[in-house]
This record gives sequence, C-alpha cells and structure tokens, in this order.
Amino acid sequence: ADLSDRIAEILEAHRSLEGPLLPILHDVQAAFGHIPQAAVPQIAKALNLSKAEVHGVVTFYHDFRDMPAGRHVLKLCRAEACQAMGADRVAGAVKAALGIDWHETTPDGRVTLEPVFCLGLCACGPAAMVDGRLVGRCDAGIVAEVAE
Ligand code: FES
Repeated sequence: ADLSDRIAEILEAHRSLEGPLLPILHDVQAAFGHIPQAAVPQIAKALNLSKAEVHGVVTFYHDFRDMPAGRHVLKLCRAEACQAMGADRVAGAVKAALGIDWHETTPDGRVTLEPVFCLGLCACGPAAMVDGRLVGRCDAGIVAEVAE
C-alpha cells in the first residue's frame, strides 16, 4: 500500500501536465531509487497507456533503472577528452573485471556501472566517479575502490 500511495501522490502532482510520463518517472525514481515493477501498471492506468508503453520508456532512457542500483555506483567518463586519454581501454578492463556491461549491476549487488559524458575533469582523464566522488587519471585499478 505504501508504494501505491506514494505513486498516487506523484501521479496527482502531475495531473495538469501535458505528456507527464517523463516527469512522473523522474519523481518515482527520486522517491524509490528505481522504477519499481509494481508501479508500472498504476502509472500506465493513470495515463491511459499500456504497461508495455511505460516499460518501453523506462528501458529506453538509461537514466531510469528498473532495479535498485548496486551498493556502489561506478561512472566512467566516455566523452572525447577522456577517450583521448584511454577511457575506452579502462572501460574494457573494468567491464571484464566486473563481468558486466554498461547499466548493469554485478550479481552480488556490489556495483553498478554507468557511462557518463564529461565530469568536468577533462584535464585529468580518464575520469571516473565512485559513489559521487570524482577520480582523475583512473585505470583498471578503480575496480578496487568498489570492492566492498
Ligand atoms: Fe571526461 Fe570531461 S571528457 S571529464
């Protein structure tokens, strides 16, 4: 009931908006950290959409998660300046070490890997962010920072 009450509040707050799906999903994710599967039918019904349409939007925009993030979120910069400093190689090594691809979470729930486009640390590329903390000149050793 908690979930559906909270979702109902969010839906109500967006009632007068045109095309409110994205702002609603943003608010749901802000409230729960992801878009709970159980919320999708409620949102779809309120907006006169099919569940598949809502689910399609959730999976299309990588900003939305359909599952909770891992205990750590590791973001690697994929923008140009960092690419010139070897970001692709670092990303490849990190993916191999964790056994996951972009937007995935390790099966033990330890870390979620996300691409990001410029962290403002271009002079110290490749840049990364570990749980909101900036890391410059990172290499595959960054994986050790999310080891717990
Ligand atoms: Fe990577 Fe700016 S391009 S931090």
